[in-house]
Amino acid sequence: MIKLCLAIETSCDDTSVALVEADGFVRKMVSANQDFAHAPFGGIVPEIAGRNHSQTLLPLIDHLINEAGIQFTDLHGIAVTNRPGLVGSLIVGIVTAKSLAQALKIPLMGVNHLEGHLVAPFLKDESYQPKFDLSEPYIALAVSGGHTSLYHVKAFGDYQILGATLDDAAGEAFDKFGKMLGLGFPGGVLVDKNSQNGDPASYAFPRSMIKEDNFLMSFSGLKASAQRLLENMSEDEKLEKRSDLCASFQQAIVDVLMAKLDRAVDETGISRVVITGGVSANSRLRQAAPDWAQKNNIQLQIPPLRFCTDNAAMIGYAGVMRLNRGESSDLSLGPSPNSWPQDFVGKGR
Ligand code: KG4
Ligand code: ZN
Repeated sequence: MIKLCLAIETSCDDTSVALVEADGFVRKMVSANQDFAHAPFGGIVPEIAGRNHSQTLLPLIDHLINEAGIQFTDLHGIAVTNRPGLVGSLIVGIVTAKSLAQALKIPLMGVNHLEGHLVAPFLKDESYQPKFDLSEPYIALAVSGGHTSLYHVKAFGDYQILGATLDDAAGEAFDKFGKMLGLGFPGGVLVDKNSQNGDPASYAFPRSMIKEDNFLMSFSGLKASAQRLLENMSEDEKLEKRSDLCASFQQAIVDVLMAKLDRAVDETGISRVVITGGVSANSRLRQAAPDWAQKNNIQLQIPPLRFCTDNAAMIGYAGVMRLNRGESSDLSLGPSPNSWPQDFVGKGR
């Protein structure tokens, strides 16, 4: 039985490490954000992300172990994100995890980053306890900068894709809109912040595919429509209308996500729902989803912000559950920009 697992997450631009127990209790997590390094470029630069991980990761692990007051020999296993993600970033975490597993003679588990997001709502710590556990099927909306998908989670490790975005991820749309408005990087949080006093009905942004009887989504039309609108506005007007623009753009995304989620619950008859991934930090989504859940008698779980955005704790929980099922990765574990074919069932519709 693996009781304590060290987890490493370096799939994109956040370096994160955590100590996770077998039941998903997060004993400690520390993360290093790289926004300062990518902000001047208005987006993530893969080479810079990889270089920063390689400078940050080992000192961060040292810090984690010290802060937790444990020794490396107290670890029973190591979980590391090995897919999907930026290859140059993933490699840093994988090589470190392999070396530590070899040196400590403990098992290693390569984890799919998206599986991490799917179990994130069930993590626990001193101030968060989920309302239901992952022993029964649930619907998951995983919405981040790289992915926007709806899953029917039949059991841990058994994931059916109901549908996904055909083009941009919702987080990507937020980030691009933030950039168009000159808000800075990363745009999602800044669009959210600037939307606070805005009127969400002031601009009629498109809600692509919202009425279609499927689980597919598309956010590229929304982005193009925003681009056209902003091109015809003066800088002063953009500034003056900033909060209305942000609120309206945000509302269009939230409406689409909620409509597809509602359809998933209707079609599957499953009334346990989680929303996970970086965009689940969005304040409008965090208002709309509980209202919808209450009206429709749905058990809803959205993790706290620290478990929404990329974090190692979710990788640790997925990893420790897999290790305790008798699975492990060998030293040939490598990075993959995509999920493996066996990770998810179906392509969605
Ligand atoms: O899950 P995550 O940390 O990384 C990926 O796996 O992509 O998600 C990051 C995404 C970014 O696009 C970011 O702008 C978005 O989540 N995001 C938000 C908010 N906080 C983060 N989008 C909208 N509102 C927010 N409050
Ligand atoms: Zn993510």
